[in-house]
Amino acid sequence: MNQDDLFKNIISHSKEYGFIFQSSEIYDGLSAVYDYGQYGAELKKNIREYWWKSMVQLHENIVGIDAAIFMHPTTWKASGHIDAFNDPLIDNKDSKKRYRADVLIEEYVSKIEAKIEKEVTKAQERFGESFNEEMYRKTNPRVVEYATEAEGINTRFKAALEASDLAEVKQIIVDLQIACPVSGSRNWTDVRQFNLMFSTAMGSVSEDASEIYLRPETAQGIFVNFRNVQKSGRMKIPFGIAQTGKAFRNEIVARQFIFRMREFEQMEMQFFVRPGDEMKWYEYWKETRLAWHKNLGISDKKYRYHDHLKLAHYANAACDIEFDFPFGFKELEGIHSRTDFDLKQHEKHSGKKLQYFDPELNQNYVPYVVETSVGLDRMFLAILSASYKEEKLEDGSERTVLNLPPALAPIKVAVLPLMKKDGLPEMARTFLDELKFDFLCQYDEKDAIGKRYRRQDAIGTPLCITIDHDSLTDKTVTIRYRDTMQQERIAISELKNKVEEIVGMKKLLKALK
Ligand code: GAP
Repeated sequence: MNQDDLFKNIISHSKEYGFIFQSSEIYDGLSAVYDYGQYGAELKKNIREYWWKSMVQLHENIVGIDAAIFMHPTTWKASGHIDAFNDPLIDNKDSKKRYRADVLIEEYVSKIEAKIEKEVTKAQERFGESFNEEMYRKTNPRVVEYATEAEGINTRFKAALEASDLAEVKQIIVDLQIACPVSGSRNWTDVRQFNLMFSTAMGSVSEDASEIYLRPETAQGIFVNFRNVQKSGRMKIPFGIAQTGKAFRNEIVARQFIFRMREFEQMEMQFFVRPGDEMKWYEYWKETRLAWHKNLGISDKKYRYHDHLKLAHYANAACDIEFDFPFGFKELEGIHSRTDFDLKQHEKHSGKKLQYFDPELNQNYVPYVVETSVGLDRMFLAILSASYKEEKLEDGSERTVLNLPPALAPIKVAVLPLMKKDGLPEMARTFLDELKFDFLCQYDEKDAIGKRYRRQDAIGTPLCITIDHDSLTDKTVTIRYRDTMQQERIAISELKNKVEEIVGMKKLLKALK
């Protein structure tokens, strides 16, 4: 199956099995806004818990907060979002469709790069073992021509962006003869900057109302509370403040399902350090965060670092952890060394000191900050897409299974009486009533047992427990493992410990380095 089809199947599976629905679907949906269904909400909550516990519970020097979505409007002036949180947009006059100018150009370049890869694959097949890829890329005239073209466009585009020359950005689109995918025409408007923040009015009387913004990142709620938390928690540098919560961006091009949404959730941590120590901590968090992802048991090959060559004006180092989504490697998490930019800006705009007295140095300073920022929805998509499998079984039948990390699975245990009679349902319910205090369980007595197993596979339930007639007398049950489909007979007295050992969050957290 190609990656496009795989992705389509993942999206329809998410809907069919209650993970993700389009927002307000009965009104034909709202673009790039999604609702999490009964299983999606559980999976999302478990990912959030894995993050929160590993950050806050396992680090004595990190505390968590929950700041409001609305903030004083000056926050966004200070952070630079009012002036600079923009994307360049362009409209096609015939289709009236709006595009990100940078994405149109990047997609054009991607097509050239795809042609290069096609040539390389063809040559690989032709020459077999003796193929020297590096040499071929350097010398094949067609490949060299494509590569030169792509590099030329990239250089011109980068220069235009750095000079904020929007007329030149449009000229590149014109020169490349990029057409609107909908109308097919090249009838473009000028390129304009488009601020990504959503705004609304606060106040009951329209004349008194002031424009406020829905936060585009959760980080600023941490910066403005730096002093409150440091003082009230008697925090000593280095220390971190973590938070999870909704963020909003009016993305011009919102595609790829929950990868780029207009309303999404972030899990961010700002780590406050002594000036001069930031590179040490940047390296520490870069490593620690990658280890956190890899700890989930998804193939290591799915992750890679992407160091930023061009840094934002406030950063002195930045990298992304990229994940191999069905549509290729894309950013999953950002790790940024943000210097003292944010705290200094808030000092300047609020007139309040945001400093720390370091007793060891006997000195006041504005701390430097290393930030880790991961999208919860992107984590969800990464885990879901890596877990989704369509398997052909030995007996010729097929199953769709989600090999979710057990601790993150929405339902941990399905309790299934083999038959709907002879006291089996009653015995199954006794288990459920005991297990439900520790684990989210599901009771199911409808249909043949094989069909019930398939239903649980499709939602990623790691364990099924079947109660049969022997259970009534020998006090054992059958435990069935999702991934191997192996079954095992175990004593009822061992059940709880066994379940905890397999699906408990503790095991996942303990495995963290
Ligand atoms: N405070 C830093 C910050 O917000 P960012 O790279 O803009 O940095 C951090 O965002 C993370 O938030 C990204 O790595 C991504 O996982 C997630 N994210 C950003 N925009 C998103 C969107 N429109 N939809 C879903 N997730 C998004």
